[in-house]
Amino acid sequence: MRFLVAYQSIEGQTAKIAKFVEEELTSLGNDVIMFNTADAGPAPSFDEIDQIVLAAPVHERRHPQGFEVFLRANQDKLNARPTLFLSVSLNAAFHEGIPEANDYATEMKMRTGLNTTRDLLVAGAINTGEYDYYARQVLRWVVMRGRDFDTNVQQHEFTDWDVLRLAVTKFATEDVGTGS
Ligand SMILES: Cc1cc2nc3c(=O)[nH]c(=O)nc-3n(C[C@H](O)[C@H](O)[C@H](O)COP(=O)(O)O)c2cc1C
Repeated sequence: MRFLVAYQSIEGQTAKIAKFVEEELTSLGNDVIMFNTADAGPAPSFDEIDQIVLAAPVHERRHPQGFEVFLRANQDKLNARPTLFLSVSLNAAFHEGIPEANDYATEMKMRTGLNTTRDLLVAGAINTGEYDYYARQVLRWVVMRGRDFDTNVQQHEFTDWDVLRLAVTKFATEDVGTGS
């Protein structure tokens, strides 16, 4: 099978997740085409693409604009194929954050007209060593709210790689149909 992995990343964690997905799919014997929706170049041809993995992070409640533009521009082609959407956020790391993480994905799909076959809310990462003052304040007061958040910890990865591997394997090996 031939897969397209279309992704965008702002701080790097979703790029790491997309690379992991590429390696998993390849190890299962598939061909994988990677496309970063932040790239200015032309979108890949969908002609020989069987299934699609979409991955994007949430920053201030929204997935990146370039990612949404890609979804809107290719809505028909995406909806005609099985798609697994990986929505990466910090809220996905916490039990009480799941409804909000779910809202990000639902609102994004309503805006773009995307009908996914499967969704996975993926917990992202914190990298305070690389954030400017504004980003640190957003994380502290908007995302983490009352949760324990040690700003001295430079990096913390919440991503559960085993759960991700399982979801990708199931998507690649089961008869998934399309979301439309
Ligand atoms: C400035 C900023 C804003 C963020 N806003 C949200 C948010 O609104 N909700 C959320 O759940 N996570 C939020 N996050 C957490 C990111 O989704 C998480 O760090 C993710 O791993 C980023 O992925 P990336 O490295 O691919 O950009 C935010 C992170 C930063 C730095």
